Amino acid sequence: AKNGKKVSTVKPKRRPKSKEVERPSKGRSGPTKKGFLIVRQKGSKVQCVVAESKENHVSVDMVKFVRQLNRESFVDVIGYVVLPKDHVTGATQQVEIQVRKVYCVNSALQMLPLYVEDAARSEADIQAGKPGANQDTRLNFRVIDLRTPTNQGIFSIQSWIQIGWRECLLRKGFIEIHSPKLLAGSSEGGSAVFRLDYKGQPACLAQSPQLHKQMAICADFERVFEVGAVYRAEDSFTHRHLCEFIGLDVEMAIHKHYSEIMDLVGELFPFIFNKINENCQKELEAIRKQYPFQPLKFLPKTLKLTFAEGIQMLKEAGVQADPLGDLNTETERKLGELVREKYDTEFYILHRYPSAVRPFYTMPCADDPNYSNSFDVFIRGEEIISGAQRVHDPELLTEQAKRFGIDVETIKTYIDSFRYGAPPHGGFGVGLERVVMLFCGLNNIRKTSLFSRDPLRLAP
Ligand code: 4AD
Repeated sequence: AKNGKKVSTVKPKRRPKSKEVERPSKGRSGPTKKGFLIVRQKGSKVQCVVAESKENHVSVDMVKFVRQLNRESFVDVIGYVVLPKDHVTGATQQVEIQVRKVYCVNSALQMLPLYVEDAARSEADIQAGKPGANQDTRLNFRVIDLRTPTNQGIFSIQSWIQIGWRECLLRKGFIEIHSPKLLAGSSEGGSAVFRLDYKGQPACLAQSPQLHKQMAICADFERVFEVGAVYRAEDSFTHRHLCEFIGLDVEMAIHKHYSEIMDLVGELFPFIFNKINENCQKELEAIRKQYPFQPLKFLPKTLKLTFAEGIQMLKEAGVQADPLGDLNTETERKLGELVREKYDTEFYILHRYPSAVRPFYTMPCADDPNYSNSFDVFIRGEEIISGAQRVHDPELLTEQAKRFGIDVETIKTYIDSFRYGAPPHGGFGVGLERVVMLFCGLNNIRKTSLFSRDPLRLAP
């Protein structure tokens, strides 16, 4: 493509996909001789030049028409792809489209409440005085916000995580299930449930597929996974809690030890991370441009530490944490830093948690019931997974449920499932939005939820 010659005619056989006009510019050369469009399709943009020309059948009226198009309108463009040369230096510039025809498929409002370029500003741009938009404005006008290359990238990565998740688990003999989301009682204990009326019967939205994925194991499915929405009514106004998120869940029969579950996590997630790195370089680059971050450090063989070892590392660093309590956001972060310094990884498993801080269905350790066969998994010092071996003895399960203040009548069918014969088993739950947020080093989970639901947001 030399000397700005026509290199190809953009005449797709089928009707071209509509594209959005981002900014019809005022003509550069005289009032009506030329018009410019920046046309965007998914993550890519190209400038289209509409120049009055008898030879190309482009009239002054067409130039006028293009110049009055509103930003973000959908257009179809037909023209030639050209590689223009700079008049002075002779260097080739970026590809342009020399327009022959433009159709406005659907016009956008003249004044939009949010401009894509304002939503796409980096912190550095905003500090340099360019107009930006705050997070609430962007979430209020999410259909515009989602058009930025950053957001297109975030949701491609989210999709690749699910591709990796399914590919790896299906290869390992798991089957995908769908558990009910309308339940008679809470699945994780506690009061953080959305209550509703189910044809006159009290009901709630599932906080997780926990009870039913275990019941699938009782039904001899042996290895199951699920991808689905879960609901938490907790009033958590944090950067990492939503009221509705996508849960990735696994449940599996185990043969000897709960380490079989951790081994699966240790293989599955590096597989997913590699999948993202292999398929999403362009997307990662787009995200990094707006929100700079370092690539995630992870080891081919995932690091496992016991909770007691974690407490010891914190102690040696001068941080006190209760050996029979839970870690909080700060101690988790601190431990994440210590682990990165010592082991050069930002992805690791912490296991053998104190029983008191785990849900009622968690199996206590055989050698010390103060601890449990459970684990959490962290990326950059924040939790993305919690998992455990479950209690499969119905009497112990009933006793533990009562101790946690759960009305056992509401989970009777679940407990009874273990009376008909059930294998030792365990599994884990992952928050999809958290994985995307932490893999990309983002500071808020709302950025990784398509249309987020938090205690203050039910729209759009
Ligand atoms: O730690 P959680 O509550 O564990 C369970 O749901 C268990 N049934 C899992 C299991 O199989 N043992 O939730 C699992 C994961 C967390 O590690 C976190 O990544 C995510 O789900 N998560 C949330 N994500 C967004 N907003 C919230 N409010 C979340 N609560 C948990």
